[in-house]
Amino acid sequence: MSFWNRRRPWGSALAAHADGTPHLKRSLSWPHLVALGVGGIVGTGIYTLTGEAAALAGPAAMLSFVIAGIVCACAALAYAEMSTMIPVAGSAYTYTYTVIGEGWAWIVGWSLILEYTLVCSVVAVGWGGYASGLIHQAGLPVPELLLTAPANGGLIDLPAVLIALAVAGMLTLGTRESARVNLVLVIVKIVALAGFVALCLPAFDAAHFTPFMPQGFAAHEVDGVKVGVIAAASIIFFAFYGFDTISTASEETQNPGRDLTIGIVGSMLLCTLIYMAVAASAIGARPVAEFARSGEPLAHILRSLGHPRAAVAIGAAAVIALPTVIMAFMYGQSRVFFAMARDGLLPRRLAAVHATRGTPVAVTLLTGVIAATLAGFVPLARIVALANAGTLCAFIATAAAMMLLRVREPLRARRFRVPLWWLVGAVAIAGCLYLFASLPRETIRFFFIWNALGLALYLAYARRRSALA
Ligand code: ALA
Repeated sequence: MSFWNRRRPWGSALAAHADGTPHLKRSLSWPHLVALGVGGIVGTGIYTLTGEAAALAGPAAMLSFVIAGIVCACAALAYAEMSTMIPVAGSAYTYTYTVIGEGWAWIVGWSLILEYTLVCSVVAVGWGGYASGLIHQAGLPVPELLLTAPANGGLIDLPAVLIALAVAGMLTLGTRESARVNLVLVIVKIVALAGFVALCLPAFDAAHFTPFMPQGFAAHEVDGVKVGVIAAASIIFFAFYGFDTISTASEETQNPGRDLTIGIVGSMLLCTLIYMAVAASAIGARPVAEFARSGEPLAHILRSLGHPRAAVAIGAAAVIALPTVIMAFMYGQSRVFFAMARDGLLPRRLAAVHATRGTPVAVTLLTGVIAATLAGFVPLARIVALANAGTLCAFIATAAAMMLLRVREPLRARRFRVPLWWLVGAVAIAGCLYLFASLPRETIRFFFIWNALGLALYLAYARRRSALA
């Protein structure tokens, strides 16, 4: 059988706990998973990209939110079905390996590395920016060289490095402990966004919604920039994902059949409602042109409405709560590395699990060091959309695995069944492909270069070291 389609035997995917291979401790229940999902989803996206989406689509950015939300909801349903059927670490990588084949699984795992690591680093840099502002305001004598990445004339973005390492350290202490901290921070974020909506509602003016679609619907280039409702959706998509990190927690969930379904579908629905409310309130409160170019659109709107203190508070809430995004994605990244190492596609030492804490300490620290290094030294602004490309690839793979399995093994037991699976799967795949094609051209090119490098590594190393080889 070719390496492309040799598959992880179904039993071995489920027997991780039985056959002496390294496995993770089951310590999470559904409230932890909903919080992990909301912690990963609500982050820099809603706090910063609302303005960018408005710049690309006008008031029809509302529609961009709806489209990104529908595509993500369909993908979330596919994740719920697959993660409850195959409740072991690895998420889309493991589903692809079990249902489609090893070569394809490698591509998905390699794309997930892109998604998770980039999100951790980008959010760490965003957090570092806020932290540097606070350091300046407090008048602390920290040299500017230590607060600035080399690309901007400094030596290192130290706050970004420190937050990435701190989150990695937290994650090694224990999954349940990390989940508790996450829960508290998630509540801070939701209260802040609810406060934003409450302050905007009295200023709501329906006239701000016309003209509704000044840049049209399909993505098209104007002065070298892709604009239109779909172009905005492919960027705002960043704000929606993160629920997929829950599926990486399958192996640490006490009752996977129930908890994963509630966690994935529940966090996705909750965040879609929150986002629709935030986007409608923002556009209703102020004309789009006023906040479209702002790097901190929500705070900007609150200032324009005469609420300077609330503007400071929403900025502060973002700073306090942003580490939950790093936590969710770093957690997901370490579990994908863990699953790939356990399967022999990465050095097996990385799959070691701490005897008492039940966490993969080595691989978590490795993930933290990689994310910290990127955050501290690499200019990430040009490649951040690559995280969207990696995620779209993983969503397509999960929906394809769900559909293939329905056709191939219709009678296999399913704890959660996607309703109208053929429609939901088709919408997820077609929607993700359409969003992928609407990404900036440079992003698409980088994505294929990244995967060409990955495939070279696979052919040179992983193909022969695989447990199935
Ligand atoms: N959804 C996450 C965020 O917006 C990646 O930060």
